[in-house]
Parts: sequence; C-alpha cells; structure tokens
Amino acid sequence: MNKIIIAIDGYSSCGKSTMAKEMAKKLNYIYIDTGAMYRAITLFALRNNLIANNSVNEIGLVAVLPNVKVKFNYNSTNNKSETFLNDVNIESEIRGLEVSNHVSKIAQIKAVRAKLVELQREMGKSKGLIMDGRDIGTVVFPEAELKIFMTADYKIRAQRRFNELQAKGDTTSFEEVLNNITSRDMDDTSRTENPLIQAKDAIVIDNSNITPAEQLALALDYVCAKID
Ligand code: DC
Repeated sequence: MNKIIIAIDGYSSCGKSTMAKEMAKKLNYIYIDTGAMYRAITLFALRNNLIANNSVNEIGLVAVLPNVKVKFNYNSTNNKSETFLNDVNIESEIRGLEVSNHVSKIAQIKAVRAKLVELQREMGKSKGLIMDGRDIGTVVFPEAELKIFMTADYKIRAQRRFNELQAKGDTTSFEEVLNNITSRDMDDTSRTENPLIQAKDAIVIDNSNITPAEQLALALDYVCAKID
C-alpha cells in the first residue's frame, strides 16, 4: 500500500491530536503534533523571562532561537511520543494553562514559524506521516495527499477541554477555558503569518455531534480512498 502525508488542521481543542494519534496507530504512520512545538518555544520564552506582563520580548527571543532545540522522543514505557526542549522532557509542562495562554503570541512570530515549518518539513521527508496543526495543509505540506479540516462548536470544545483538565485535577474554571479557546480561535484565524484557514482541497469534519469512534471511522475511510 502506498504511504501518504495526511495534514490535519483545525481549531483549538477539537480533538485533532486524539484522532491523529489513533489514525497513526491504525495505519502504522508517524504522528507529529506541531502545536507541541509552538508550546515548547512558549515554555522556553516563559522560563527565560522573555514574556513579561503579557508581552513577548520578540527581539530577545529571535536572537536566541538558533539555540532552542525542539524534538520528539518515543517513550516505550507509555508508548507515547514526548516533546523535548533542549534535551529535557517537557511533555507535561506544555499542556498547562500558562503555556496555553501565551502560545498564540509566540505562534505569530515570523522567525518562530519559519524555524518550526522548516523542522516540520524535514520530519515529513519520508511519507507515512500524519501531522496536525493550523497551517499544515496550507503551508507546511500544501501537496499533502489528504487534508482534513476539523471543527466543532466552541462551547462543546471548551466543555471537553474542561472535563480533561478536571480529570487531571486541574482547578481551572470553565470560564477560563472558554476564554482561552475563543481568544486562541481569534488569534489563530486573524494573524498575518500562516493563519488558520481551510485549504481549498481539505475535507471538513465537524465533530460537534459525532463520537470519537465515528470520527475515526470517517477519517480512515478518507484515507482508504486515497491509498487504495
Ligand atoms: O494544537 P495546540 O492547541 O496544541 O496548538 C497550540 C498553539 O500553537 C495554538 O494556539 C496555535 C499554535 N499553532 C500554530 O500556530 N500552528 C501550528 N501548526 C500548530 C499550532
């Protein structure tokens, strides 16, 4: 069976990475979570005092960017690919609200995007890859054989994210989660550099009212149609 590149783009917290991971498992493909890469740079900026009073020291960050190393390592204990920043595992730190609240500002910076897009293209040199993000089907791999654009009602997305955080013991309120999602939607769609837009040849999946299993089956049908 021929291997392809699958680009999955869409709004924050609409289950892109959950679906992409499941697809990768079923297809035996490599999965790359590009949001984790923007989150890693955000954590770096926070830790190095390059974000203060909600504003990013862009000049300072761009100057040290060549020294920031982001990569993924496979953890065979939990069978997960984990994010590393300068060789330190930061997988859990990048999922908290502090990083979520600042990541959109980091993702707007041209030099950050240029660095990460280059890295992502490098990772996709061999096919058999599923990558999720905001600009994968439009900028990173415009020639991807299959492009899926995922969406869901914003309140449903916030409720799902809130439930996930609660299950982890996180005390963030529903309102905070909702505000974070609406402001990231706004930032993602309105920024100048590689905004979130649906590629012309993308297939839309709205998962507001379908189960993860139904969604996975639907996506795998689209894959089958491409690789048969
Ligand atoms: O997918 P996520 O929520 O983990 O992504 C975190 C942020 O990174 C999100 O607010 C938008 C940004 N992002 C981006 O601009 N481009 C990508 N390819 C992936 C994520």
